[in-house]
Amino acid sequence: MCGIVAAVGVDGNVLPAVIHGLKTLEYRGYDSAGVAIVSDGAIQVRRRTGKIAVLEEDLGQNGLPASPMALAHTRWATHGAPEDRNAHPHRDHLDKVVIVHNGIIENYAELRTDLQDAGHEFTSDTDTEVLANLVASLLEEHEGDLHAAIQSSLQRVHGAYALVAASSECANSIVVARHDSPLVVGIGEELTCAASDMPALLGLTRDFLVLENGETAVLTPHSCQIFDPNNQPVSRDIQHCDWTPEQAEKGGYPHFMLKEIEEQPDVLARTAFDRLHDAEGDVVFESEFGLEDQALCRFSRLRFMAMGTSFHSALLGKQFLEEFAQLPGDVLNASEFLYSPKLKEGDALTVIISQSGETADSLRAMREVQSRGGKVLGICNVRGSTLDREADHVLLTHCGPEVGVASTKAFFGQLTALYLLALRVGRARKVLSKEQGLALLSDLRHLRPKLDSLFSDEAEEAVRTAADILATVDSCLFLGRGFNHPIAMEGALKLKEISYIHAEGYPAGEMKHGPIALIDESFPVVAIATPGKTYEKMVSNIEEVRARSGKVVAVAAEGDQKVAQLADATLFVPKVPEHLSPLVNVIPLQQLSYEVANRLGKDVDQPRNLAKSVTVE
Ligand code: G6P
Repeated sequence: MCGIVAAVGVDGNVLPAVIHGLKTLEYRGYDSAGVAIVSDGAIQVRRRTGKIAVLEEDLGQNGLPASPMALAHTRWATHGAPEDRNAHPHRDHLDKVVIVHNGIIENYAELRTDLQDAGHEFTSDTDTEVLANLVASLLEEHEGDLHAAIQSSLQRVHGAYALVAASSECANSIVVARHDSPLVVGIGEELTCAASDMPALLGLTRDFLVLENGETAVLTPHSCQIFDPNNQPVSRDIQHCDWTPEQAEKGGYPHFMLKEIEEQPDVLARTAFDRLHDAEGDVVFESEFGLEDQALCRFSRLRFMAMGTSFHSALLGKQFLEEFAQLPGDVLNASEFLYSPKLKEGDALTVIISQSGETADSLRAMREVQSRGGKVLGICNVRGSTLDREADHVLLTHCGPEVGVASTKAFFGQLTALYLLALRVGRARKVLSKEQGLALLSDLRHLRPKLDSLFSDEAEEAVRTAADILATVDSCLFLGRGFNHPIAMEGALKLKEISYIHAEGYPAGEMKHGPIALIDESFPVVAIATPGKTYEKMVSNIEEVRARSGKVVAVAAEGDQKVAQLADATLFVPKVPEHLSPLVNVIPLQQLSYEVANRLGKDVDQPRNLAKSVTVE
């Protein structure tokens, strides 16, 4: 989705820092980029379709003067095709106001007609140009006060926005605003900045102020004054972010995705190990979790909601919960929940899972639950995100910033957190004894060294052999059962996201009810057949695929010659208890999709049409 970076400093040139910040947002997915400055009472804009490198080339030939203030943007098209004229920043027709904007102004068409009737001319198809014109039209009424003009414009606007605006009259202040789209303000030395995501500003500061919905702020080099929707000043504590800029860099890897896949053993340690309470065979969460034993015993079920990869975590959250705590779990796609009949919340706890904490559908589902009187536990990876701030209870994963659009380590962190949550609920409800709790903790501790074999030369070789099979097909099937049904779905999603090969994840029992019709020598199947309750059934499914000349890529436990002899390629994984198999089995599937996409020359970190953080519904 669109990205914003802006800064206002005392002197010097903030353009390089702003462009650098914009590059750290490339992972969000975009189709054009642009930048604006105000110099000698005039707004200057450069914007280009394509990657930021194209904009940089343009700036190289057609430079902008050094500027202590700049607004920059990457656009992911909503209104109007990806063309230079639709790229941000946008100005009003008299060049008085310049704006970068994320989100969607839903009533832009009506506003545009009114403005056209009043003589405004438009050169783009965007809702943002309408906003720039609306603000400019109100500027005079507010005696050139940009903040007042923005506030009164926003009263006429419906929809979601995070925006940064500047006026030609003033080169040392900018105005920012947000509603349902993320925006953070960074407090640096002799500089104040704003961006849609903290990593974009880590090169400038690690101190942040997070804007709440409906708030606006005026940024000058030495101040950030926040206002509520009634124009009352708001005081806000600064939050310090302990992510380093290096954590958000590639660190020698060719792609963020590969780096993030390989970070997963550390994610396990960071998300789990400080929380394990060996003396009690239990887990201890931070105070923001806020659910004591008594509260956890009151819920008659847990409902998990999420989107994308996080939805696959939700499916496993339910399974862990039912296994460890014997408490029923429901799983719902957050976007579907929004339009389902408004039933009473009852005594359920809703768990919203989102790595970014900014996914529009998931946030709307959270607010819908809360408006019906329900409580929400948010599981997310970004401190200060909307989910972190608005959920009633919070459980953070500690994955570090995830940059690759296709989620890997954030998924792994979510599974770890959900395992801990189920254990905690099981202990609170006394369906798990201390000894059983201890055994589950010990399984988790012993997992980390076992993961090493997944990154060995032999494992890489096996992934390459499996990729030989998948890289040449148009379509394929991923099968798993029980704990590994969500992993089959996630494996298929990873492959389709980054290689554009059509892939579906199915519960293996369903194969005979339809997908089997597709199987022939050109339609391979990836089958997860690691030890557990359904192992024999998976072996039978593999036989059925082979009987129809389908090629098989198997995920099997080390030393399993039975499966290896049936399969055309085998991805061996360490032997672990069945309830931990999802955390192990997902890794070779991530590696497989990476290898296939890379071999096909696809843009692994920024796949076409996808965005890291989908902040519109
Ligand atoms: C986008 C991303 C996916 C992610 C999904 C949900 O579609 O490309 O990788 O799983 O959003 O994101 P969330 O931040 O809520 O986990």
